Amino acid sequence: MKDFKQGDAVYGIIASGGYAEYAIARVEDIAPQTRKVSISKTAAAIPLGALTAWQAIFDLACLSSGQRILIDGASGGVGSMAVQLAKAKGAYVIGLASGRNEEFVRDLGADEFVDYTKQKFEEVVKNVDVVLDAVGGDTFGRSFETLKKGGFLVTTVEFPSEEKAREFGRKGSRESSANQTRKS
Ligand SMILES: NC(=O)c1ccc[n+]([C@@H]2O[C@H](COP(=O)([O-])OP(=O)(O)OC[C@H]3O[C@@H](n4cnc5c(N)ncnc54)[C@H](OP(=O)(O)O)[C@@H]3O)[C@@H](O)[C@H]2O)c1
Repeated sequence: MKDFKQGDAVYGIIASGGYAEYAIARVEDIAPQTRKVSISKTAAAIPLGALTAWQAIFDLACLSSGQRILIDGASGGVGSMAVQLAKAKGAYVIGLASGRNEEFVRDLGADEFVDYTKQKFEEVVKNVDVVLDAVGGDTFGRSFETLKKGGFLVTTVEFPSEEKAREFGRKGSRESSANQTRKS
């Protein structure tokens, strides 16, 4: 049990009714504000992106230490959290974003960076264990080519339809709020 006291500044996620002067949250869903995190500018943006990234790469893709992960949209709300979480886990992290965000993504812990405006990422990234796709569309489809056999693709954007899975010769399934496909 966390040791909160009256008047503490906290941040977290609540099931509903967030736009209110007073709200009720489960104690396990909130955390104390640290001096490093501004409550108004930063803390409010952390929980949803971080929990989405956590669910995708750990609960669904079961990323483990030493595995290689490609993160599509590594500079974004979900991707920037995923880079830090995957790195903290001990994974080898490859971040995909535009060149203007390379320094930011590397500072978050990415071991490699690919600029999607300059390179076809599927030609330079191969044999990854996990792809976290937070971009969708064409990027989602091309990400299959980077997976090693038995690798796992999880997306926060779109459902990998059976038709699309067949097109790529993989199996697709859906679980919870994130979508996943395992390369067969
Ligand atoms: N944020 C959340 O809490 C959350 C929760 C659940 C689901 N989602 C969904 O997840 C998706 C991403 O959300 P987000 O909040 O992370 O978005 P975001 O902050 O707008 O980030 C988008 C990311 O995609 C990158 N990107 C754009 N075009 C690309 C391309 N052609 N190839 C590769 N990367 C590209 C951007 O890179 P540059 O900026 O460097 O160009 C940026 O890193 C959305 O569909 C959203 O609905 C988000």
